[in-house]
Amino acid sequence: MFRWRSPRLTALRRTPAAKHLLPLLFCPHQVGPCEVSTPPLHAPFSTRIVGDEPVLVRDFIRSALYDPKHGYFSQRSGSVGVLESSIKFNKLEGRKDYIKQLDKIYRQSDISWFTPVELFKPWYAHGIAEAIMRTANFSVPLKIYEIGGGSGTCAKGIMDYMKLNAPERVYNSMTYISVEISPSLAKIQRETVGEVLSHSSKFRVECRDATDRSGWGDCQEQPCWVIMLEVLDNLPHDLIYAENQISPWMEVWIEKQNDRETLTELYKPLEDPLIKNCLEIMNSANKQASPSSVRLIADTLWSKIFPRPRRCWLPTGCLKLLEVVHDALPKMSLIASDFSYLPDVRIPGERAPLVSTKKDGRSSDYNSYLDAKGDADIFFPTDFWLLERIDHFCSGWLKLHEDASSSKHGKKRRTITLDTSSFMEEFGLPSRTRTKDGYNPLLDDFKNTKFYLSVPTHNLK
Ligand SMILES: C[S@@+](CC[C@H](N)C(=O)[O-])C[C@H]1O[C@@H](n2cnc3c(N)ncnc32)[C@H](O)[C@@H]1O
Repeated sequence: MFRWRSPRLTALRRTPAAKHLLPLLFCPHQVGPCEVSTPPLHAPFSTRIVGDEPVLVRDFIRSALYDPKHGYFSQRSGSVGVLESSIKFNKLEGRKDYIKQLDKIYRQSDISWFTPVELFKPWYAHGIAEAIMRTANFSVPLKIYEIGGGSGTCAKGIMDYMKLNAPERVYNSMTYISVEISPSLAKIQRETVGEVLSHSSKFRVECRDATDRSGWGDCQEQPCWVIMLEVLDNLPHDLIYAENQISPWMEVWIEKQNDRETLTELYKPLEDPLIKNCLEIMNSANKQASPSSVRLIADTLWSKIFPRPRRCWLPTGCLKLLEVVHDALPKMSLIASDFSYLPDVRIPGERAPLVSTKKDGRSSDYNSYLDAKGDADIFFPTDFWLLERIDHFCSGWLKLHEDASSSKHGKKRRTITLDTSSFMEEFGLPSRTRTKDGYNPLLDDFKNTKFYLSVPTHNLK
């Protein structure tokens, strides 16, 4: 188990440490029955994120990460590290040596964290390029979109690989479009890819929010690829809350208290369409298994005697992004990689995030997401089972109750979720990330990360 984004080696984590709310009509300005239940949290900076009106948790997270002034990714180009040169794994003795090397790199660069595409460059990107090469239909020009390309290392690695290994006409006619929300990272991407002159005419960066449909223009019917590495984990999520085991879910909002400094949670009946859809996608798999009346009575009694509040984080940002991407690029093939599990999470709730900051060269985690001040990375584990269902929902294949009559007729997609090691063994060159004694950090340490592949099918009824 490896916690990738840890600034210092000391933060490597190897094993998993692994109000009564009346369903009232919402009353935004009142402090009353629809007010909070968690203790107040003091967060002077983050109070700027919330104005006079309450905001949904996803809007709070979006501002904390991407606000042009205060956001973590917007103000810190160093939020995504770039290695000056590749690590020569074959020259390292083993794990101890690798850790030493990593420690040195982190000390030298004072960068927040390195992602695997960076640590294992160029091999990680080459594995992805090979997966595309083996699957792509080369009778049409190769078109790749990368969402959240960070420092551009993946883009450069893939283009290098195509230049060397694909038929010449494929490389010559390919286009690689990076959709990047952060202006500072967009600039770095241009520089990274621009190192190879022949890549420049095939590569462009569109600095915009990929979840905004208007940025994608008209629907494009031709096949293409969409790559997202460690992007899903940084997408805004929503939070739902239930007072006990059987009470209904409420959506969580954040509001400022009268002192203008304290942020508190506010619970409202479910109304937001993204939250409702996400919850329904999650629940639709369990529809048949509705509990018996005896079970219901037992659950009710139990929740009265031992009431236990529930909190559940929903990947509404992912739902929105995939809705937009499927709508704009219906024939896209998707490759996404991300954390499937995060260790030592302190924030309560299912699929809860880590909120990680770095002060004086040391990393630490916040106990509350409300403490995020633009200096903290907020990242979530990806529930790959749910990701697949969201993908099928957005392609129009999976129908929910409400949209059963919808005119959107999707075809089933072929999907697979692979451990990073399986993906790299299949498509990569594992011998290049192996140390002398056989230890292979990419295969051995990245146990809490997975790849999701999803391709359209045109031959299924
Ligand atoms: C954790 S970094 C990963 C960077 C890179 N993919 C890697 O693996 O090194 C997340 C990236 O996604 C970008 N990003 C997040 N949300 C985005 C959005 N809505 N639209 C476009 N880019 C986004 C961030 O600016 C950043 O470049």
